[in-house]
Amino acid sequence: MTPKARSVYRCAECGHDHSKWVGRCEGCGEWNTVAEEPVVEPSARAGVRVARRSSAVSGGPAPARLGDISESRLERWLVGLPEFDFVLGGGIVPGSLTLVGGEPGIGKSTLLLQACARLEAAGHRTLYVSGEESPDQIRLRAQRLEEDTSAVHVLGETRLEAILAATTSVGADVVILDSIQTVYTDVLEGAPGSVGQVRECAALLMRFAKESGSAVMVVGHVTKGGSVAGPKTLEHIVDTVLYFEGEGMHDHRLLRATKNRFGSVDEVGVFAMTERGLIPVQSPSALFLAARASGISGSAVTAVMEGTRPMLVEVQALAARSGYGTPQRVATGLDHKRLAVLLAVLERRGKASFADLDVFVQVSAGVRLNEPAADLAVAAALVSSVKDRPAPADALFLGEVGLGGEVRPVSGMDRRLAEAQRLGFKRAFVPAHFAGRGGGLHLVPLDHIEALVAALAA
Ligand code: TYD
Ligand code: MG
Repeated sequence: MTPKARSVYRCAECGHDHSKWVGRCEGCGEWNTVAEEPVVEPSARAGVRVARRSSAVSGGPAPARLGDISESRLERWLVGLPEFDFVLGGGIVPGSLTLVGGEPGIGKSTLLLQACARLEAAGHRTLYVSGEESPDQIRLRAQRLEEDTSAVHVLGETRLEAILAATTSVGADVVILDSIQTVYTDVLEGAPGSVGQVRECAALLMRFAKESGSAVMVVGHVTKGGSVAGPKTLEHIVDTVLYFEGEGMHDHRLLRATKNRFGSVDEVGVFAMTERGLIPVQSPSALFLAARASGISGSAVTAVMEGTRPMLVEVQALAARSGYGTPQRVATGLDHKRLAVLLAVLERRGKASFADLDVFVQVSAGVRLNEPAADLAVAAALVSSVKDRPAPADALFLGEVGLGGEVRPVSGMDRRLAEAQRLGFKRAFVPAHFAGRGGGLHLVPLDHIEALVAALAA
């Protein structure tokens, strides 16, 4: 056991030290920036200095030129949940520390327990440590899943030192800590979940992972305010940050990498939460278009890029005569300012009037449109609704709409078009400046929003 060290309360903003915790830093006056940190005793520090000097003399690791460092292929352990491996950049890297953040109840524990089961099946030893559920509760969850979890080691423990000892004695390749907010280290006095505890535990876990070669995954609950330190506290410490998100009443979940030292960020994996656990969704477009009604006005499909993958989503618009004074503009899954801009452009440049009409726009399955590439589809849905003419059901709409009403090219056209073709779409309305080919899709070039209005009226 680590002897209890003295600790200090240090401001994260200005570094001012306090002898006890205070809500407001006495140095810079900032609120809630003071957190407990362990003090390295002078004798220990001297020891480090001596050790450093002697390692220099005895020739510890010498600096090397970048060009002389041999290329080593990063080893990866495949989890066996394809969407999970994809978001990680091709599997778990030994010795890495990963944070899996998300709101309570979204499915983090379920995902990681399933990952353990798959890893065991692939011959990797796993340990699932929970400070939130007893081993019995974990067993109940495991019984629901369509996975063989029998080989997974579980432990109900919150003291970090005990957890690390158990990891070593089990010989776990992968250890899950559910959640970082429930663990504490003997090094500090603060309560589990405090900023100081969360940070210090993460730092100790990082060192443990690097030294032991075990991969560590910690769960971090996203909290809306409150006294518990959220995953933001940890993001800069860990190697990889994944967020698990869901939208309202929908069953699908998105796993998103926002930081990855071993892969690209912004990749998204899609899962469906079922009665028997999470199932990777290999064709998200099909899922997002599943409930699409045909022959109804106000619907248009576009392709959004989630990382490097295109996903087809449906944009729906409804323009209805307003019963009251000021017409309403309601946008779900899309910035309401973007909607206001598109309505103004349609009004001025496209001669489609929405005055005195309530306008509602929403995106299928709770997806958010963050790209201008979806402008043309939003405009098409709006025009289709106001003219009450269904847009062709087998058409994809791609393009940014400028303030002059011009339709502009967007990036990743080829991949977006290929995805539409894969799902059986027949044509695509694209910017006139797009020089590429549509593969098997019939391309309808549009230079201006007026051309869109004409095409939909035809
Ligand atoms: P959980 O993994 O406990 O979420 P988190 O760890 O992020 O807090 O998931 C909890 C929800 O998932 C809960 O509402 C029940 C539901 N669930 C299913 O729908 N199917 C299942 O097979 C399991 C295990 C859970
Ligand atoms: Mg949980």
